[in-house]
This record gives sequence, structure tokens and C-alpha cells, in this order.
Amino acid sequence: MSPQQRYLELLKNAVLDELYLENEVRFMYIFATLAVGKPIDQDVLRNIAFRIPDLVNRVRVARQEGRPWWNVDLVDGQGNRKVLDLRNFCEFSHTMIGRKRLNNIEYCLDCVREDAIHGDIAETGVWRGGASIFMKGYLEIWDMTDRQLWVADSFEGLPVPTLPQDQGWDFSAGKVPILAISLEEVQDNFRRYGLLDERVRFLKGWFRDTLPTAPIEKLAVLRLDGDLYESTMDALNALYHKVVPGGFIIVDDYGDFEPCRRAIHEFRDQHGIADQIETIDWAGSFWRKTR
Ligand SMILES: C[S@@+](CC[C@H](N)C(=O)[O-])C[C@H]1O[C@@H](n2cnc3c(N)ncnc32)[C@H](O)[C@@H]1O
Repeated sequence: MSPQQRYLELLKNAVLDELYLENEVRFMYIFATLAVGKPIDQDVLRNIAFRIPDLVNRVRVARQEGRPWWNVDLVDGQGNRKVLDLRNFCEFSHTMIGRKRLNNIEYCLDCVREDAIHGDIAETGVWRGGASIFMKGYLEIWDMTDRQLWVADSFEGLPVPTLPQDQGWDFSAGKVPILAISLEEVQDNFRRYGLLDERVRFLKGWFRDTLPTAPIEKLAVLRLDGDLYESTMDALNALYHKVVPGGFIIVDDYGDFEPCRRAIHEFRDQHGIADQIETIDWAGSFWRKTR
């Protein structure tokens, strides 16, 4: 591995919180134990990887795959089974996209670098910023410092669905508070990695308001991660034509969010886009723009 690749591997470990994953499992153990009214065992807390290896391994595999990991099966004092959703208390990683989708970002940026595809990089839907932080780290370590990174988000979570295509998919802050991460927190995350500078351009607000007038000229990579039909369509309408031939469109939610997949197909049909959609993993897909 080159020094650049070693740095990027470490960055993946960091944004996935794999280095300190046991701490997330410690919180899971505490909440799950309190939920059934049992005392906290301090030895379990200290030696969590040895005392509850199955749970640690389950969370590690899910983290690598970018899959849900936060439900815990419990049996209370009366012998009743219940499922405890711990996502809003125990998720500490800086990205939720898993390792394969981080590898896909690296692959797309490798192609852009090696083929000298010009243009900026954008992510629409950044949450704590981890995937964007990884892209910024790539630009720095490969000395691609003439490019800007556009970081677009409401910084207050997903919108409440208003379109019929998004009905039944309400992940707004009232329903999933952990998806609402402030601009200040995301900026602070970039700062902690030493990656916050004037070439990181934040676009705060709903995509429908910020993206059509964003001063973006050309894009080499457009990464869509807004989950909903509305969010995907607003980003495509505003930015797709700015992606240069040879550039990439990455769709984080193609496999797991039907409204997102629907927006992709409608947009491609409307614009006669025939470029092959490649599968990254159970959720993500991408294509390379040929014209
Ligand atoms: C699934 S998270 C993104 C995950 C992130 N890319 C990562 O690396 O973990 C979705 C993000 O999209 C944002 N979002 C979704 N729809 C939006 C919209 N229409 N306008 C602005 N932000 C939106 C949410 O605030 C949230 O931060």
C-alpha cells in the first residue's frame, strides 16, 4: 500500500468508528441492562469484547456493511420479549455508509484523478459528514487541492414528506432525531480530522432552496444521499447537468429506499440516460456519465 492508501484506510476506520467500536456496544449494554432493570456489571463494561463477543461482532459486521445494527432483543423480568431500538442513543460513527460505499468513493476518485476528469466534488445529504470528510481527505492526500468540496444539507434532518412519492417514509427530526445534525457539529467533525478549510463549501438549507442557485460550476463526483424522492430529484434537477462526462453519480440509497430509486429511474427516463447502473452493495449504486 502507498502512504496515501494507508492514510485513506485509517480514515475509513475513523469515520466508521471502527477503532473505538466497543464504546458504542458499551452504551448498548448499559441501555439494554437498564431497560430490564438489572445492575450494570462493570467487568462486562471493561471487557466487553470478551464478555459479549457476539454483540460486538454483530455490530462490527453491520458497521462494515452499512446496515442497521441498533435493535436489541430483550427479555424483561416477567419473561416478556421485546425489541429495543437504540439508534438514537448509541450511534457514534461519523458516517453510516459502511466500508464498501467508502471503497466506492475511493474508486470513483481514483478514476477522476487518473483520467484527469476536472470538476468539484459534492455530497447532498451528509449527516455527521463522514463520507464528505473521507472525500476531503482523499483530495488532500492526493494533492487535488484545486477542487472544492460541496457539502449540502438542511443540517436539521430530513424534510417531513410532502410529495405522494414519499408518503410512508417519514424520517424527519421528530421521528428520527439522530438524523438531525447541526452545521456546527459537522464543521467541528471536519476540524477534528484537520480537514476544515475554505475549500469545503457548506450549503445549508433544503435542497430545493440551496442547490438551484449554488455557485457550483462543474462536478466530477456527485454523491446523492438524501434518501427521499424529493431530495434525490431536487439534487438531480439542480446538479446533474453540471457533472462532466467521465464524472460519477453515486446514489447511496438506490437499493434500500424505493422513493430514491423511483426518482433515479424517472430522471434517467426523462433525460434519456442509458449509462449502466452498477451495484456497490445492498444499498448503494453508481454510474459513470458518458455524455
Ligand atoms: C442518510 S443521511 C446522510 C448520510 C451521510 N452521507 C453519511 O455519510 O453517513 C441523510 C441526510 O440528508 C439530509 N437531507 C435529506 N433530504 C434533504 C433535503 N431535501 N434538503 C436538505 N437536506 C436533506 C438529512 O438532513 C441527512 O443529514
